Amino acid sequence: MAGKIEPKQTETLDVTDEKDIQFLDRTLRPSKWADYIGQKNIKDNLHILLTAAKERNHPPEHILFYGPPGLGKTTLAHLIAKETSAQIKITSGPAIEKVGDLASILTNLSPGDILFIDEVHRLHKTIEEVLYPAMESGSLDIIIGKGPSARTIQLELPPFTLIAATTRIAMISSPLRSRFSGGTFKLEFYSQEEIEEIVRRSAKILKVEIENKAISEIAKRSRFTPRTANYFLKRCRDFAQVHKQNLSGKIVSEALSLLGIDAVGLAPSDRSILETLVRKFKGGPVGLNTLAASLSEEQATIEEYNEPYLLQVGFLERTPRGRTVTDEGYKHLGLTPPIKMQEKLL
Ligand code: ADE
Repeated sequence: MAGKIEPKQTETLDVTDEKDIQFLDRTLRPSKWADYIGQKNIKDNLHILLTAAKERNHPPEHILFYGPPGLGKTTLAHLIAKETSAQIKITSGPAIEKVGDLASILTNLSPGDILFIDEVHRLHKTIEEVLYPAMESGSLDIIIGKGPSARTIQLELPPFTLIAATTRIAMISSPLRSRFSGGTFKLEFYSQEEIEEIVRRSAKILKVEIENKAISEIAKRSRFTPRTANYFLKRCRDFAQVHKQNLSGKIVSEALSLLGIDAVGLAPSDRSILETLVRKFKGGPVGLNTLAASLSEEQATIEEYNEPYLLQVGFLERTPRGRTVTDEGYKHLGLTPPIKMQEKLL
């Protein structure tokens, strides 16, 4: 049985809040593969997956992307849609509040559509369970009514591809994970050279004249994340404009220092984490909940935004007993690392 469930509002899908940064993402987002810099292994895998699906004249299988925010998960979903000439419908885990919301989204898909669910780790368990048969066999099981008169109807869905993204892979249940039969791909931080190429491209699009030294300085402080690099480029352009200066390495340094970004790209919130660990917890180990409470910060923000980069630059370690500042972390704060027990015994 095929059918549509009418959405409550005229709009089928909710798109999460569009903040300045997301707007920026859209203007600078590459619209063809040739412009998508980095993540080579993912691009190579997707090329095989998409080519094979095209040759079989079938939508690609479901795909899961994970990794820290701003590395290009949404951009990849858009590029896949373009490559397969599919329409993309965009929603997010927290926007799907009820089973009916998901049913409405799924039954309004056209054959071959791509459904992109961002922050899929925030999908309610009950909704996730409705997604399983939809992903596996293209059917939607809906319970109509309550109590003894309740009955299940099964709707057949058009063939579609689910692309989901998450910053928290550990929060994805294994039944959901196993249904991404097209593959699960981890986005890595970019290299200095890749970010430089991204900044050069963005400057061209924004018609900003920029010196090479300024490009490398932005890249160095960008947390090796395209979204951050593009955001910095715009803020540095503003700074140069207001000071009637060329966009040079020196101007970038000044502009980013004014934003509280240090030489290796740590933001004030990153440094607060390290400083709190050192000053209040003797450098750790300390559990995430205690650390978050001490900073009056959300655990999720620390875990999704701050930690990946602090781990990447080697200033923080995650041990089974909690978070610990490394010797490198101490040195970055201008402090002397404590002498370890083994060293004391020597
Ligand atoms: N903007 C955001 N991500 C990008 C990427 N990987 N390549 C080029 N521009 C980007």
